[in-house]
Amino acid sequence: MTIVFKPLEAEAMSEILRIQESAYEPRYQESEETILSKIEYSPGTSIGAYEDGKLVGYALAFPWGASENIPLNFDLADHSPIIDTLYVHDVSVDSSHRGRGIGSHIVQHLFEKAEAMDAQSLTLVAVQDAKPFWESRGFETLYGPVEGYGSESVKMRKFL
Ligand SMILES: CC(C)(COP(=O)(O)OP(=O)(O)OC[C@H]1O[C@@H](n2cnc3c(N)ncnc32)[C@H](O)[C@@H]1OP(=O)(O)O)[C@@H](O)C(=O)NCCC(=O)NCCS
Repeated sequence: MTIVFKPLEAEAMSEILRIQESAYEPRYQESEETILSKIEYSPGTSIGAYEDGKLVGYALAFPWGASENIPLNFDLADHSPIIDTLYVHDVSVDSSHRGRGIGSHIVQHLFEKAEAMDAQSLTLVAVQDAKPFWESRGFETLYGPVEGYGSESVKMRKFL
């Protein structure tokens, strides 16, 4: 079956919430309002992966400052950072579709978006044992843990 990747839009919110719930422990769940603020902050840099019209994975990503972390449930409209990175806030694949390469394809699309916006790097906070996934895609650990993200969290970066 063919997976189609396209900009993530607010209309997909109920599917985003369903995937988020299947992907993250309760402490990492974010509200509909803050997810919406991340989609609307930078239309086109967040990605949806669709199969037969159904959302099977997504990424929330937007231009940001590489040295700045984003607290959970933080409304992006409240802040104006110095832009030098594509901040990857969330990559989630529906639990019943993992291991099919969807996450890897989403990351490849994020690399292309970062290049298109002339970012120096991509940055993220890795949680839930996802560090090896990011390491094998070229990300290096900067430090950890990251305040508000739990003891196993690490800040990671990949230069373009
Ligand atoms: C991490 C995640 C996005 C990978 O998506 P995916 O579509 O299964 O990824 P792919 O099929 O492209 O690749 C599979 C890779 O993911 C790894 N992987 C599979 N399930 C994983 C999991 N639950 N956590 C971390 N890595 C996982 C596999 O080991 C494999 O790694 P490799 O290619 O380096 O050997 C997906 O497992 C997920 O949604 N996890 C829950 C949410 C999450 O933790 N996101 C990252 C937060 S920083």
